[in-house]
Amino acid sequence: MPTSAAALVVEGVARTFDTPAGPSSVLRNVSFEAWSGDTIAIIGPSGSGKSTLLNIIGSLERPTAGRVRLGDVDVTSLTGRALANFRARQVGFVFQDHHLLPQLTAVENVLLPAMAIGATRKAQFRARDLLEAVGVAERADAFPARMSGGERQRVAAARALINGAGLLLCDEPTGNLDRESGGNLVDMLIALAQREGVIVLMVTHNEEQAARFDRCLLLRDGEVAAHTPSASPGVGS
Ligand SMILES: Nc1ncnc2c1ncn2[C@@H]1O[C@H](COP(=O)(O)OP(=O)(O)O)[C@@H](O)[C@H]1O
Ligand SMILES: [Mg+2]
Repeated sequence: MPTSAAALVVEGVARTFDTPAGPSSVLRNVSFEAWSGDTIAIIGPSGSGKSTLLNIIGSLERPTAGRVRLGDVDVTSLTGRALANFRARQVGFVFQDHHLLPQLTAVENVLLPAMAIGATRKAQFRARDLLEAVGVAERADAFPARMSGGERQRVAAARALINGAGLLLCDEPTGNLDRESGGNLVDMLIALAQREGVIVLMVTHNEEQAARFDRCLLLRDGEVAAHTPSASPGVGS
């Protein structure tokens, strides 16, 4: 495979839901590519399929048509043990809610996914290293209840990457944060993409945040309505 091959390829992805009112076509034909270290903001009206797209890319849902490839893995055709393995190691999620366990400290929360696949001593070092990378090293032994919202989301990002995922999928991670903490989280995610070489896809309603990413995908009517350098949202062809 040529080294220039895109790390993430989303090709003609469609998703139709069966509803009492008949089939509802949420995603019709979504295609884009991304490379290691790329940061992409996904914007679009509420209900435009942003979460559905992220879930399909992260193997939590299956598309009705099209496919997703990460490296040489066809994500959309994975089943059974290969699918579980992919979810545990190749992809990390950060949601609007942090989903940290309240009875575990920050570093213990980060280590949880590593324990699920048999944590080694190396994971302990990586957990501390990741907490430093996301800017909360000094909070490693704090419980979530004693952290700010921004700190919790940083811990959630560290947890998402503990097993070496190449893809970080963030679904409105700044939705519960004030403007300053939200902006800081975005800056951190972009720095993390560089440091770890991961692809970061982030859904946001915040145009100011979206403009900080390498690229911006606008979803509308089930398609990518604009795919622009984020410096000039809305100006793409
Ligand atoms: N499992 C499902 N069954 C039926 N409809 C769904 C399901 N999941 C999402 N939808 C519908 O698909 C549309 C897109 O949802 P979503 O991807 O959550 O949009 P967004 O994240 O852009 O707000 C919405 O109209 C939603 O109601
Ligand atoms: Mg959503």
